Amino acid sequence: MQALKDVRILDMTHVQAGPTCSQLLAWMGADVIKFEPPQGDATRGQLRDVPGADSLYFTMLNCNKRSITVNMKTAEGKQVFTDLLKVCDIVMENFGPGVLDRFGFTWERIHEINPRIVMGSIKGFGSSGPYADFKAYENVAQAMGGAMSTTGIPEGPPYVTGAQIGDSGTGLHLAIGLLAALHQRDRTGVGQYVEVAMMDGVMNLCRVKWRDHQRLWHGPLAEYSVGTHKGMGETPRAGNDSGGGQLGNAIRCAPGGPNDFIYIVVQEAVWSALAQRIGPEVNEPDLATDPRFSTIDERRRNQTSMWELIGEFARRHSKREMMAILNELDVPCGPIMSTQDLFEDEHVRGREMMVELDHPQRGRWYNVGMPIKLSDSPARIERSPLLGEHTDQVLSSVLGYDAARVEQLRAAGAFSAPPKKAK
Ligand SMILES: CC(C)(COP(=O)(O)OP(=O)(O)OC[C@H]1O[C@@H](n2cnc3c(N)ncnc32)[C@H](O)[C@@H]1OP(=O)(O)O)[C@@H](O)C(=O)NCCC(=O)NCCS
Repeated sequence: MQALKDVRILDMTHVQAGPTCSQLLAWMGADVIKFEPPQGDATRGQLRDVPGADSLYFTMLNCNKRSITVNMKTAEGKQVFTDLLKVCDIVMENFGPGVLDRFGFTWERIHEINPRIVMGSIKGFGSSGPYADFKAYENVAQAMGGAMSTTGIPEGPPYVTGAQIGDSGTGLHLAIGLLAALHQRDRTGVGQYVEVAMMDGVMNLCRVKWRDHQRLWHGPLAEYSVGTHKGMGETPRAGNDSGGGQLGNAIRCAPGGPNDFIYIVVQEAVWSALAQRIGPEVNEPDLATDPRFSTIDERRRNQTSMWELIGEFARRHSKREMMAILNELDVPCGPIMSTQDLFEDEHVRGREMMVELDHPQRGRWYNVGMPIKLSDSPARIERSPLLGEHTDQVLSSVLGYDAARVEQLRAAGAFSAPPKKAK
């Protein structure tokens, strides 16, 4: 049995942040009804690679869901929405500020319609405070949550990270909140409102940068390779420094291509073995006893020289060879994997983290698999729905509408966009 079997979700989310969350819940077995405007989630048509087909932007974030189109700008559409609220456990949305309120569905109203329902909302900045009225996208959240100011090198501009910590990261936070609220609802019978702001989520993911921010009140950060000093005021960008108690860095390997690097953590306990292995190859046979590197404090002080020596060794080996050599010595390390490296990786395929799917419009395609593995409830990944594919099915099987009622609603425009006005 799937873990969230019997949980029904009315999913009004769009773009990335919300759909990330509802896709994960669907993979855990929830019945997710994607409630779309008649034109569909805008991402269906964004960044299209196959003409006329739902984009990968959409298909990769909306698997295992059913799609129903409802025009919330009609009285009939609002009635369908109200009826769905009564039979769902969770309703979730990530519209811009005030959109749902303008439809007449505040949390108070939704709670009144179904006191058991849990509501999840993602906003850029939450519903209170001076930024509450602002919209947000991924990089806006990375900019405002402290990720960009701490990513890159001090002399360069701030950088965004490729990991979608603003959107997908916030979706993960929401999933945790929804599951907690659902658990409480099962005890009390009363649902609650779960709000996650993207800015808050990014700040949470930057927690260790706040550790460093406060440490700077008391003195420099010895593990940073860039200069820091007491009273510096802000956590600096630190390139590829490890960010933890151990020294780490990305080191170039053979043959020198853009992703021929390996990230190495020179854990305190492994220095001696590492030095004995690399010393002879870099003309430093006594490296293991060299006083410049004998303690972690010395290695912090002399880390530039240490990385140069490790780099000299790494230039003679590919990143995969380095991975084998270093793991043999129990040195934590990771080759910098390109998307192509990952796509071909045996470990990735073995863990079903690259899943091949079919789609009526685009044919074969791949999705990144389920990263949360439940021993008794493994995820079964199914393709994303076409726009409105399940409208009739949901209306009859979930709401119990008969054919005449569906036709009446259809004729009233409940499931379609109004015709464009002639200019
Ligand atoms: C992502 C975001 C910037 C997109 O902005 P946007 O494209 O202007 O979309 P909005 O959410 O503000 O508005 C959605 C519109 O669709 C309409 N709509 C949504 N569902 C509808 C339905 N079923 N029927 C009819 N209309 C519908 C809404 O009424 C609204 O139109 P309006 O402005 O005329 O009221 C914005 O939604 C946002 O800030 N969301 C919160 C933060 C977030 O999740 N961002 C990350 C996204 S990955």
